[in-house]
Amino acid sequence: MAEERDEQTQDNMKMGRRTLVRWFIGIGAVSSVAGLSSVLSTIERENGVTDTVVQAGDPLVFAVGTNQGEPIMYSSIQPGQGALAYPRGKEVQENLVLLLHLNSADLVEPTVLEWTADGMVAYSAICTHLGCTVNFSHEGMEGAEYPHLHCPCHTALFNPQQGAEVVGGPAPRALPQLPVAVDEEGMVVVAGPFGTPVGVL
Ligand code: FES
Repeated sequence: MAEERDEQTQDNMKMGRRTLVRWFIGIGAVSSVAGLSSVLSTIERENGVTDTVVQAGDPLVFAVGTNQGEPIMYSSIQPGQGALAYPRGKEVQENLVLLLHLNSADLVEPTVLEWTADGMVAYSAICTHLGCTVNFSHEGMEGAEYPHLHCPCHTALFNPQQGAEVVGGPAPRALPQLPVAVDEEGMVVVAGPFGTPVGVL
């Protein structure tokens, strides 16, 4: 378990650094590798990146909207709907997930069914192509069965009923699944670390 946490920490830190590197490269703000490394370390410390490892028991909260920051109850998301969520207190990009309430009978492998809760299933919202935020839609869309997850940047499509496998576009691998459970108060909580590394490898 400790080894898993260590690996998750390293993965999260790698992701954070990669995201920041892409951002810096995009705006041309850094003129030397040494300078970039120093700036990244400072930002990671200030953002508490090392304290944001997702762990079992973390309550999921709404990431956007009028109820942003509020805990997500099982009853908060109706069947066929989804929400962007964070583990509470760990609101960094690599922890952003899409929490979906699907028909449990429609969930099949490679979805890890033990990591779902009465149709509630969560996947990383960070596209595995170049790191854009993925959206959820229950509407039909050309080239995709519905419901589906889609990335607006280069039109990657993922099937949330089958482990968020890639069903279209340039993404190289499925979106990582985050184990979830419902506690005795009906709150949706994290049940373990992401199944695979988050984001762009
Ligand atoms: S970043 Fe998602 S398809 Fe390119």
